[in-house]
Amino acid sequence: MKEAAAVAIGGAATLVPVASGLLVWLDPLNSGGGEGQSSFSRITGLESLPADGVPRKFTVIADRQDAWTKNPKVPVGAIYLSRSAKGDITAFQSICPHAGCFVEYRPAKNEFFCPCHNSSFAADGTIKDPKSPSPRPMDTLAVEIRGNEVWVRFQNFQAGHREKIPTA
Ligand code: FES
Repeated sequence: MKEAAAVAIGGAATLVPVASGLLVWLDPLNSGGGEGQSSFSRITGLESLPADGVPRKFTVIADRQDAWTKNPKVPVGAIYLSRSAKGDITAFQSICPHAGCFVEYRPAKNEFFCPCHNSSFAADGTIKDPKSPSPRPMDTLAVEIRGNEVWVRFQNFQAGHREKIPTA
């Protein structure tokens, strides 16, 4: 009788941590979803991007995976795209690397400007005014041309660092 009870108690003592571990492992909160995940999204057709070097703003539409739900094709952010006379396409995150405000493009000065703390960036994304509090240039994003379409790997990065560190 004592041996049977010992086996039962020992089994229960083993099962509880194993079951807890399984629940944590299967929890969607740990599935790696969310804004940090990155994959390429179709942004626009090449015909919408004149080869004049002028940055143009586009909304990024992608599937968003939260902890429990998947929302297909929702706005997840905004980027700037520019196409040089040579045809090279550059993509910039629209979020300021200083503290996360939205950066605007000012055509009259051909610069990006963040109104929160006055960081300014040249059209190529480099820091324009040395007094800008931004610790790094604007964040570039990977671009792929697929046929006649522009695809971008949309990512968010941590603000306030010299290095580009993707958000988790
Ligand atoms: S958030 Fe852009 S300058 Fe501070």
